Amino acid sequence: MADSVELHYDGKSYSYPLVTGTENERGIDISRLRAETGLITLDPGYGNTGACKSAITYIDGEKGILHYRGIPIEQFAEHPDFIEVAWTLIFGRLPDQNERARFSARLTANAHLHEAMKHAFDAFPVSAPPMAVTSAMINTLGCFHSEFYSLADEMQFEEVAARLISKIRTIAAFTYRRFRGMPYIYADSKLRYCANLLHMMFSMPYEQHVADPAVEDALNLIFLLHADHEQNCSTSTVRMVGSSKANLFASIASGVCALWGPLHGGANVEVMDMLENIHSGGITAEKYVELAKNKESHVRLMGFGHRVYKNYDPRARILQKAAQRVFKKLKVNDPLLNIARKLEELALQDDYFVSRKLYPNVDFYSGIILRAIGIPTDMFTVMFVIGRLPGWIAHWKEQHDDATSKIARPRQIYTGPVNQQYVPAKDRPVG
Ligand code: ACO
Repeated sequence: MADSVELHYDGKSYSYPLVTGTENERGIDISRLRAETGLITLDPGYGNTGACKSAITYIDGEKGILHYRGIPIEQFAEHPDFIEVAWTLIFGRLPDQNERARFSARLTANAHLHEAMKHAFDAFPVSAPPMAVTSAMINTLGCFHSEFYSLADEMQFEEVAARLISKIRTIAAFTYRRFRGMPYIYADSKLRYCANLLHMMFSMPYEQHVADPAVEDALNLIFLLHADHEQNCSTSTVRMVGSSKANLFASIASGVCALWGPLHGGANVEVMDMLENIHSGGITAEKYVELAKNKESHVRLMGFGHRVYKNYDPRARILQKAAQRVFKKLKVNDPLLNIARKLEELALQDDYFVSRKLYPNVDFYSGIILRAIGIPTDMFTVMFVIGRLPGWIAHWKEQHDDATSKIARPRQIYTGPVNQQYVPAKDRPVG
């Protein structure tokens, strides 16, 4: 197999080496291109651009493969343990028993927020978007832990990772409660990660919320299946900001803002909006599926199809089963979820969807599970933040530990005006 490519330009030939990954993905190393030829590459949306080498996550969209540190996610899903996945992503291998226990202890010890941070929640209007609050609170958290602005060794890194992963859960729960006028509930050191989140969100001072194990498992699955997806928009944002040597808190806060965008983190919210519209519009699921098949309607079945996974989404397969377990356990009878199940049933039997390989995606199932367990739609993307946080930390660390990494500085092709002259304000037309 070739180990380089030739470029012929302006009567000269240039040779660029091919780089091969451990799963045999190949790319052209063009790092000398501009210096040698004066040319740059133009790739809006970066669909053909590798911005880094990474040893964290491998995706093969055609084959429906997702590996974290070389381990298929199906294997992690057999023992749903988000915290184990988090450690594995960040530190590159499964933790041994002592490391797992030490990380748990660090998470438990760090669940609280500084008391002064509680008042920061009061500064937001009750209509503040939860993702804006979450991003702001991560930067605020950094202000209370500025000793971690520079990280010297692995132990310090483990401590800051534990603080972020533990406290994001408290931030999410306080965000939820503050805007509903509910009293803040502190973490319970006897509870595991997901049960503790549900406790902080749903308990009352006079009544403890006890999470069903099926719900706890489903939440662990949602989090671990969202924990990383290589160079997506928010992860690339974290790396981009981190490349300037911005601290971990600031870089993660930027990732939250990127995830906030409806084209990124909002897909399961759109699934819920669709279900609401079907319900309130009195349309049947059958009629909606017909509309989605009719190109002139411009209606799409939200939560079906995927840009990367062209045969099936391995995460959706896992969550489909989890959804069935949760619905059975909670004896769910919600008109919106009944519509969702009907849409799934119809689409999976319909030649339009089957022939185009348009299967329900991870957002479809995460949306209906989150609703079934009582998470309101405005908190869905914050739940995504909790899940994606270990991936962001892992990518920030990978870049931080790479002595050869550079500040990100893409180029452009300038298309603006040329040869313009400055005109003093007094000489310009009034308009
Ligand atoms: N409902 C109805 N028809 C659809 C849908 C859908 N959800 N998705 C794709 N199609 C049809 C298209 O009209 C097209 O039909 P044609 O071949 O007859 O013209 C065919 O399937 C292929 O569609 P594309 O748009 O080319 O597929 P693409 O890979 O570009 O889009 C996408 C993938 C954007 C996810 C799309 O399936 C979609 O809009 N889904 C609904 C929104 C959604 O759930 N988005 C979140 C997915 S998560 C993610 O992608 C990161």
